[in-house]
Amino acid sequence: MKKKLFALLIAVLMVSTLLVGCKKKENSSKGGKKVGVAMPTKDLQRWNQDGENMKKELEAAGYVVDLQYANNDIATQVSQIENMITSGCEAIVIASIDGGSLGTVLKEAKTKKIPVIAYDRLIMDTDAVSYYATFDNYMVGTIQGQYIVDKLDLKNAAGPFNLEIFTGSPDDNNARFFYGGAMDILNPYIDSGKLVVLSGQKAFEEVATLNWSTEEAQKRMENLITANYADGTKLDVVLSSNDSCAIGITNALVGAGFSGNDFPVLTGQDCDITSVKNILAGTQSMSIFKDTRTLAAQVVTMVSAIIKGETVPVNDNKTYDNGTGIIPTFLCEPVFADASNYEKLLIDSGYYTADQLK
Ligand code: BGC
Repeated sequence: MKKKLFALLIAVLMVSTLLVGCKKKENSSKGGKKVGVAMPTKDLQRWNQDGENMKKELEAAGYVVDLQYANNDIATQVSQIENMITSGCEAIVIASIDGGSLGTVLKEAKTKKIPVIAYDRLIMDTDAVSYYATFDNYMVGTIQGQYIVDKLDLKNAAGPFNLEIFTGSPDDNNARFFYGGAMDILNPYIDSGKLVVLSGQKAFEEVATLNWSTEEAQKRMENLITANYADGTKLDVVLSSNDSCAIGITNALVGAGFSGNDFPVLTGQDCDITSVKNILAGTQSMSIFKDTRTLAAQVVTMVSAIIKGETVPVNDNKTYDNGTGIIPTFLCEPVFADASNYEKLLIDSGYYTADQLK
């Protein structure tokens, strides 16, 4: 009898352990806290990588992820964020399309005490932004400027060299940092006459490219060639703040017959596959490598710290004022990639396979 009772007890214990185990499993698959990730567009390779990396990392940390892309349409992004707020997201990560147009929807997030992290691009004029994570945008510009100084040997060469300038979208806070960093390096050479901008277009507003559009950059480069370089005048260098513009610039240059040694030094940013291929073909000189895996991992660390009420890691408390005050920021470090180091940076690190770059 005693034996029977003992066996029954063991059986009951086993069944209940099994049941609890099942319940636990159900909780972790369904019950993780929900995090919203709002990305600007699928059009650019980098945002697809950013979104996918973040989703993977957040899920691995046990969160449920609502990842949305807004087709570069502001109204779509606003309604996606609205939906994240009402559907119970406990934190929202946003790479904005227009950093100045999310104030109203984010008021709602603030009322509901949902923390917001600005991803890569700062969200302006709202106190609903808790943190910002990005690559050092000013440094992106200085690396591009320094690359030009080194490539043309501006310190020693007599020059003058002809330069044209392209930067990004005026509604993207980053664009002014990229432009500012590069121009801080190049301006002394422009002032001394070693670099000459034949078009005369140097001010931010004159060289900005709405939506970072490849087509817009191509059109402007075509016009610049027609007006200033069609007679064979040498164009030595084009500063482009990113790859989507550089690709348009390359199209215009190739279309106008620039090739080989005549091809100007041309900068970029993101290491998009098309641009890396152009680098290998000699129709772009360099790109800035911003390893989206690093940024995604950093943001996941920040999200987890916020949700758990722990100290959130930041390393910059002075640079990024969004109009309501300084936003505590984590800055990752960008590096340049060109034909001399792309294998180590991009292939050996597993960012791309060699086949993707063929
Ligand atoms: C990002 C760049 C990107 C550009 C266009 C900027 O805010 O920092 O990496 O090339 O947007 O999408």
